[in-house]
Amino acid sequence: METRVLLPTEENISFAARLLNDGEVVGMPTETVYGLAANAFDGNAVEKIFRAKGRPQDNPLIVHIDSMERLEQVAAEMPETASRLAERFWPGPLTMILPKNSRIPAAVTAGLDTVAVRFPSHKVALALIREADMPLAAPSANLSGSPSPTTANHVYNDLNGRIPAILDGGACEYGLESTVILLNRDSSVTLLRPGGVTVEMLEQAVPQVRIDQGVLHAVQEGEAVLSPGLLHKHYSPRANVVILDCGFEVFAEFLAQHADGKTGALVFEGEERFLSVPCVTFGREEDPMIQARLLFSALRAVDEMGVDTIYARMPNPDGIGLAIYNRLLRAAGFEVLRLPGKNV
Ligand code: TXA
Ligand code: MG
Repeated sequence: METRVLLPTEENISFAARLLNDGEVVGMPTETVYGLAANAFDGNAVEKIFRAKGRPQDNPLIVHIDSMERLEQVAAEMPETASRLAERFWPGPLTMILPKNSRIPAAVTAGLDTVAVRFPSHKVALALIREADMPLAAPSANLSGSPSPTTANHVYNDLNGRIPAILDGGACEYGLESTVILLNRDSSVTLLRPGGVTVEMLEQAVPQVRIDQGVLHAVQEGEAVLSPGLLHKHYSPRANVVILDCGFEVFAEFLAQHADGKTGALVFEGEERFLSVPCVTFGREEDPMIQARLLFSALRAVDEMGVDTIYARMPNPDGIGLAIYNRLLRAAGFEVLRLPGKNV
């Protein structure tokens, strides 16, 4: 099967919607990352997602909707806090874990009695859901373990020959996957995965935001987790990634002392001029929105460098920076070297 990459014309969106109605999978753009979509009501179609990605069966999928009416086909109930958050942040990069409707098969939720739901804002994703007239189960459209795709080309590179079509909506606006939250009975929320809807934004809408352990710490073997995704290795380039927590001068000095012919660096834009090792950049230090947008492309580029070790700059973990830091931590297998001289 040769994978077709299609511009999102009305005709091509209808074609993709027909594929979905025939039980096929389709790569689609969203404002966060590209998704690999299938009919969320069709267990067989959903199985094809897992096969195409090589995704572990125990990792449940997010179901995408295009309206609050369609939410009723997906979730069994909508707690008051969820309605408030939906009003404020949907459509957009927020995923909520809700009690599941019985129409959603176990293949989508990995047998859990909850379902992750997101109402994306990308107009191509919305048009595809509307035209196919079904909720779409869609994980990120990468091979399992690789960085999530932020362009149609990334999807093509990972999944060519495994899926019939990709709608090409250009580069994704956020570049990191959605924020995932659990709703607690006391109307607080638990953050399972940081994203474009930040902790600070959630705090404006709910009394308390708890940050799950798994956001900043490696889950130990045998430990119970609230989100199966926390167990799986993620975004890992072939090279060993190490985050250096320090200012740039200390970073540059560390590299001057420790670099050999097999060392590279992942740095903020402009810093590469001061380093003598091969570098990949991911946005200026003061521009976290751009860092988010570029990080996954940068991690893919790191794989092309042919180095053994990559030293990475530490992003500022405030706002969307928490999501950037979380993805980089996972790419680094949680390996952070804290060097003195942070504010040099
Ligand atoms: O931005 C996004 O969320 C993208 C685009 C395509 O919408 N999708 C995405 O899906 O990132 P995926 O499958 O790569 O990540 C889904 C995450 C996983 O960590 C999974 O474990 C968690 O959501 N998840 C899904 N259903 C869950 C559930 N019922 N309970 C807890 N966690 C769940
Ligand atoms: Mg993913």
